[in-house]
Amino acid sequence: MRILCVCLGNICRSPMAEGAIRARAEAAGLSVNVDSAGTRALHAGEPPDPRGLSVARSRGYDNSAQRARQLSQQDFDDFDVAFAMDRTNLDELRRRLPEDANIRIELFHPDDLDIPDPYYGGRPEYEHALALIEAAADALIRDLVATEA
Ligand code: 4NP
Repeated sequence: MRILCVCLGNICRSPMAEGAIRARAEAAGLSVNVDSAGTRALHAGEPPDPRGLSVARSRGYDNSAQRARQLSQQDFDDFDVAFAMDRTNLDELRRRLPEDANIRIELFHPDDLDIPDPYYGGRPEYEHALALIEAAADALIRDLVATEA
């Protein structure tokens, strides 16, 4: 299973989603390949936002080695599923989807909730985003475990 987490800048939400999925997959003994990308190149090459790193660290993941990159057309071939953090990211993925691609494109949160962009907020906004991300990652891992069983 190859999973791509997608947000706008790839420095706040999608790196947290990548870390949350990876930690849970490892704990569950699942073999998944997780990566993340941004629809825009605004922060390409940069590490995750320090506010997101701090909140993620407080929840037990270290995302500091990640570097932001922009979504590429190759990603539509390289991944089985792309999870959009919000509806704007989802629309952008659909707009760029090649006609012959087999990738599934979905909103990450299973209750169809947007994970709000915390970039212009403070720690509470990052904590809120991570709480939604963790709920979505828990649901994803439950699904994957059920599929493997
Ligand atoms: P992300 O957050 O999409 O969760 O990584 C953002 C990061 C940067 C900007 C916006 C959102 N920005 O406008 O630079």
